[in-house]
Amino acid sequence: MCINEHYLFIIPPFVPLCKVYIAEQKTLKDTKMTHQLLQINASARKAGSVSRALSDRITARFTGATITKRDLATALPQINENWVGANFTPVDDRSAEQNAGLALSDDLIAEFKAADTIVIGTPIYNFAIPAAFKAWIDQVVRAGETFTYTETGPVGLLKGKRVIIAFAAGGTAIGSEIDFASNYLRFIFGFMGISDVQFVQADQLAIDAETSLAAANDSVDALNVAA
Ligand SMILES: Cc1cc2nc3c(=O)[nH]c(=O)nc-3n(C[C@H](O)[C@H](O)[C@H](O)COP(=O)(O)O)c2cc1C
Repeated sequence: MCINEHYLFIIPPFVPLCKVYIAEQKTLKDTKMTHQLLQINASARKAGSVSRALSDRITARFTGATITKRDLATALPQINENWVGANFTPVDDRSAEQNAGLALSDDLIAEFKAADTIVIGTPIYNFAIPAAFKAWIDQVVRAGETFTYTETGPVGLLKGKRVIIAFAAGGTAIGSEIDFASNYLRFIFGFMGISDVQFVQADQLAIDAETSLAAANDSVDALNVAA
């Protein structure tokens, strides 16, 4: 084992090995600190979007992260009959048409799997998540990819990821009985194996926007981004 560089002088034959060891240690340390961040935005609007501003603020906290952006304002297609048939056909038996039907889903899942941190900005629309966001969920929740069936029930396959969701809402308080978004999102990410789901909310903007935004910004600034 190479303890420190002084040993290089004592045991010359180990010099090359030790140098490699030290280099690997540095690389491992650096890699661990560099976040692979996927930022998803679900608001239909760009100008003045509170959820986008919050997700940008969260993303900016992850200094040095490699960032991939997925903007759902450019709507994803709904899953269709070909997609469902392909999804339930064993990989080796899929037709060219079925493979083509799953190609976007494959890309979205690869993007999702590559990230260790997923930051999502989403409005509340009609007491739930926007259809654009649900379309993304329908594309990425796939047996054999993000969860699997076992004898004891479904098990999530995505481990070690962190999801931070920034909500913007006019009058619906996040966590209240008319919020049909937050419980669902905690469940569906948990279903895929992700239990580390945090919320930041600028809710009740129509009642007191200033206080709501200040509290949301404080929550963002308090996020632990060291892990
Ligand atoms: C189609 C639509 C439906 C909405 N439904 C709700 C709702 O059910 N509850 C609520 O609190 N706000 C609702 N709002 C208000 C938005 O959540 C609020 O304007 C939010 O700031 C939008 O997010 P954004 O600023 O990121 O675009 C709705 C807005 C739109 C456009």
